[in-house]
Amino acid sequence: MEPVLSAAQPSTTPGVTPPAAPEGQFGDFDFIVVSNRLAVDRVVDEHGESAWRRSPGGLVTALAPVMAKADGAWVGWHGAPDETLEPFDESNMRLVPVPLSAEEVELYYEGFSNATLWPLYHDVIASPEFHRTWWDSYRRVNERFAVATASVAAEGATVWVQDYQLQLVPKMLREARPDLKIGFFNHIPFPPLEIYAQLPWRRQVIEGLLGADLIGFQRPSDASNFLRCVRRFKGYTIKSQQVYVPADEATPAYVSRAEAFPISIDTASITELAHRPDVIERSREIRRELGDPQHILLGVDRLDYTKGIGHRLKAYGELLEDGAITVEDAALIQVASPSRERVEQYRLLREDIEGAVGRINGTHDTMKNTAIRYLHHSYPVEEMVALYLAADVMLVTALRDGMNLVAKEYVAARTGNTGMLVLSEFAGAADTLRQAILVNPHDIDGLKAAIVSAISMPKVEAMRRMRLMRRQVVQNDVERWSQAFLNALQSGSPTHGD
Ligand code: G6P
Repeated sequence: MEPVLSAAQPSTTPGVTPPAAPEGQFGDFDFIVVSNRLAVDRVVDEHGESAWRRSPGGLVTALAPVMAKADGAWVGWHGAPDETLEPFDESNMRLVPVPLSAEEVELYYEGFSNATLWPLYHDVIASPEFHRTWWDSYRRVNERFAVATASVAAEGATVWVQDYQLQLVPKMLREARPDLKIGFFNHIPFPPLEIYAQLPWRRQVIEGLLGADLIGFQRPSDASNFLRCVRRFKGYTIKSQQVYVPADEATPAYVSRAEAFPISIDTASITELAHRPDVIERSREIRRELGDPQHILLGVDRLDYTKGIGHRLKAYGELLEDGAITVEDAALIQVASPSRERVEQYRLLREDIEGAVGRINGTHDTMKNTAIRYLHHSYPVEEMVALYLAADVMLVTALRDGMNLVAKEYVAARTGNTGMLVLSEFAGAADTLRQAILVNPHDIDGLKAAIVSAISMPKVEAMRRMRLMRRQVVQNDVERWSQAFLNALQSGSPTHGD
């Protein structure tokens, strides 16, 4: 990779003012999280005033206490193109917005991140597109994130970079600020070498990641895929999970490590909601509104081709065809939250899924009952937990998924140990939720059998399984995950001197 800018030389892109360069060499913050999206959402109140609210996701919840304790800052894009915002404080942290032009949203975010890397890293379920203009934009934007981070990091600060949108940031940071402790976590799968090899910039991306002292992955298989790629495309020495990165003009030799740290959820807050009387009442209302069927099945996904929604609908439609279930006995609720709607593959997927729902409902609905209640919306977490409580069976049929936190949330919400989870073996969650009914979603007959077995499982057996899964999710929450990663980052092996 070409030398990157130092913190004192921000990149310039037409239409976007880069964050100001620091006065001195160091910034003020000891702990910095860097992710494509900032940890806050913009909300507009009834008077039309806009304000910021902490995002509801598990990552933000887990890191908020660390932020408050450690003088923390979060660096990320605030979600609006062509808008430059000054850093501000909210929820006990400094928020550092990184601007993106409309063109960069198209090339870096929709293009390279979500139409090159996303399909490539998810086993090419959709075809990745390779465009040099997208790559150029990805590099430029990664550079801007690195500059913004370097400008707020105190001497010796810990920086934790998140996810596939920012894989070049670790190396850029190491070159600009060798004093920093740098972690990286990949929330999505890392593909097998034979697939990763397609990427025209495969060497540069590996170099970018190796800038981190510790690279975290969801599953052990992701870490070993990555290490195989390091060996093949860089030829570095690897001992167990340590990579010996030799010196170059910009950096002395050091050791980087690649390990699995399966992410989890904020179990306590889901459990608390599951006990709240208004949430419980809402779950009863959902059941009533569906005509009180014997079985409610639930799917909750971003509308993404990795989630296997089409496979799930096919299996469900065939069960209705076969008469194994009827619309009087069973209802499927499918929440499909809108996602990346300007990316072509996502538009096509929406047409497919909505066509399939229409065909199944058109064939099987009666005036009174509907086969699939399809909801193309996002909901607040209270409504999600009410849905989890209303659902006898949760269907997670991803074709490839880094972890799948919906599976863990469902388990966390089932405080009475009832309900059953049908879980794809291609989701990271299958490593730990072993008592789910594990399925290969490509095997439609197998998926149908799994749905029938979930519906008809004897209560004692279902409760035994759910109890074990709940124990897993209670003991391994997202706070434990972040502590494990940050402890491993701090206790990393010292730089080797050769
Ligand atoms: C996945 C990715 C995240 C991403 C999220 C939503 O979970 O791992 O990095 O933020 O999807 O996607 P979006 O493109 O809306 O940020």
